[in-house]
Amino acid sequence: MNDIRKIADKLYDTRSASDEELKTLIDINDAEHLRERAVERRMEYYGTDVYTRGLIEFTNYCKNNCLYCGIRAANSEQERYRLTKDEILSCCGDGYTLGFRTFVLQGGEDMHYTDEMICDIVSSIKKNHPDCAVTLSIGEKSRESYQAYFDAGADRYLLRHETADEEHYKKLHPKSMSLENRKRCLFDLKDIGYQVGSGFMVGSPYQTLDDLVSDLRFLQKLSPDMIGIGPFLPHEHTPFKDFEKGSLKRTLNLISILRLMFPYALIPATTALGTLHPLGREMGIKAGANVVMPNLSPTGVRKLYSLYDNKICTGEEAAECRGCLDRRVKSAGYNLTVDVGNVKR
Ligand code: 5AD
Ligand code: FES
Repeated sequence: MNDIRKIADKLYDTRSASDEELKTLIDINDAEHLRERAVERRMEYYGTDVYTRGLIEFTNYCKNNCLYCGIRAANSEQERYRLTKDEILSCCGDGYTLGFRTFVLQGGEDMHYTDEMICDIVSSIKKNHPDCAVTLSIGEKSRESYQAYFDAGADRYLLRHETADEEHYKKLHPKSMSLENRKRCLFDLKDIGYQVGSGFMVGSPYQTLDDLVSDLRFLQKLSPDMIGIGPFLPHEHTPFKDFEKGSLKRTLNLISILRLMFPYALIPATTALGTLHPLGREMGIKAGANVVMPNLSPTGVRKLYSLYDNKICTGEEAAECRGCLDRRVKSAGYNLTVDVGNVKR
């Protein structure tokens, strides 16, 4: 017990720990002291503010076949949809009225949207809402494409590395995908000037404690502005349908560890965490997370963006989701802010 206190204090003081110390923390049962230190650190940087991002899931077509993901190309059971530019702009308009100042455009790797179309959508959002940030989360692209979106006004980019271990990466993805290219994308995005978000799933099939340590070490190299983690959740129409869900304990411990290693980071309490446990997002905030990402997609398509089974927030209107999260964040002792929510390095 004393050891655990010592490791948490060391992480607070130095932002670093040995591999063995990290492995110990990831699996502790009594995480009270770790949580306290993480909350203390987050208070120093962000006070009680929780930032909110309006998530627009604009296409569930995807050319890839990640073994964990419900919208993988090979899932022929999945009904597919795409939002038009006008539909996307209308989501942003509604979101703006509700107090959102960041819009996250997320989708599968859908070749229907050319770079010109993405640039046009981005620049139109920025024209309508010059005081807002636009975040893209549309997968692996060439450096030239990333540069074009950036020049069109995109501010941020989310691309989880998923796992930083070469062998583990191969177990989660088809041969056509590589960890090397994913890393190339992340460093290109940083180099271009985006605020970059990365992250990984907790408890994905075949993941070991060493893999999780590699994830933390990779993040230290990348030094991203945003770090998104959430539990793996099986989807019935994927090869991983029979695997166990990721653990709540590990996910919360890792959120606290991330807060201590990356004090400045924007760390969301994810929808996957809220799906794993009815109070998962509140627990995430209390463990050190400081971002929530309610859904702004039209209700008609929400159920279709099914990365995993039983995803929450698929029946609610944008305003209901916002109100619900407002209450949830307050109940945890924090405040949802109307702010673009830039990183505080
Ligand atoms: N369970 C949990 N998270 C998932 N993601 C994709 N599929 C699943 C799943 N089955 C996550 C990936 C991706 C993000 C958009 O959603 O980490 O980067
Ligand atoms: Fe969407 Fe609660 S956050 S309904």
